[in-house]
Amino acid sequence: MRVPITRLKEMKERGEKICMLTAYDFSTARFLDEAGVPVILVGDSLGMVALGYQSTIPVTLDEMLHHTRAVVRGSQHALIVGDMPFMTYHSSIPEAVRNAGRFLQEGGCQVVKLEGGERMAETIRRIVDCGIPVMGHIGLTPQSINQLGGYKVQGKSAASAMALLSDARALEEAGVFAVVLECVPAPLAKLITASVSVPTIGIGAGVHCDGQVQVIADLLGLFTDFVPKHAKQYAKLGEAIKQAVAQYMNEVLSCAFPTDDESFPMDERIIAEITDKKTARPSTLSAGKAR
Ligand code: KIV
Repeated sequence: MRVPITRLKEMKERGEKICMLTAYDFSTARFLDEAGVPVILVGDSLGMVALGYQSTIPVTLDEMLHHTRAVVRGSQHALIVGDMPFMTYHSSIPEAVRNAGRFLQEGGCQVVKLEGGERMAETIRRIVDCGIPVMGHIGLTPQSINQLGGYKVQGKSAASAMALLSDARALEEAGVFAVVLECVPAPLAKLITASVSVPTIGIGAGVHCDGQVQVIADLLGLFTDFVPKHAKQYAKLGEAIKQAVAQYMNEVLSCAFPTDDESFPMDERIIAEITDKKTARPSTLSAGKAR
């Protein structure tokens, strides 16, 4: 049984923090699930940390569905959130509803996430009306990076802080079950968290959010192009990979790998027999010809 969305609200009410992490593949999802992570986000950050795009904008729905299926196969308990990519919920409400439905039907996840505040409220309401739970995402919304003019902290002025507060309330009213606050000053995130009944999940939004989300590649040191200020490296797996690969290459070059332990034995007599046959063959053939 997977974590139901109602559990997150209960956790907020109990003051129990919610952990969310991204995953994009079967094996990582399995590790996170076994570690007890209750919410796994198949984020469109996939585009940057797993597919090598410059931003999340090129990520397609087919790519997201492909990776969502892998994460669903790798997990049994976590609630899986499919992140709707750029332009799959903007041009019309029916298209947004259809694409959200594809995440559940073809991706196998339980809920979707989409970016945007008040202006997305009607779209969210219609998706939720179809029985598809929606997680909101406000503050720094990377799909709007060209409009925002860069990866900047949002809500620093009184006007933009007020706008974020009303965005959060509009999303709550539209029926989201949780909302991500990305790169929002900690005191504002605290105020928003106290002002809405749904859980807030912060990334670069301070400790007072109801939960935290991080991109797994940042957490594990697997994406080193840049480390965002809000990220903390809990491991340096990129370095560990390079060391392991260097050792493997040395051992292959020096014939230290594979040893008998990594090889499959065979009955010596069979080898002797086929070696004899191999050497006997030409004379057998020529004898046949002579006859
Ligand atoms: O795509 C993603 O990983 C996200 C998180 C940063 C919240 O949207």
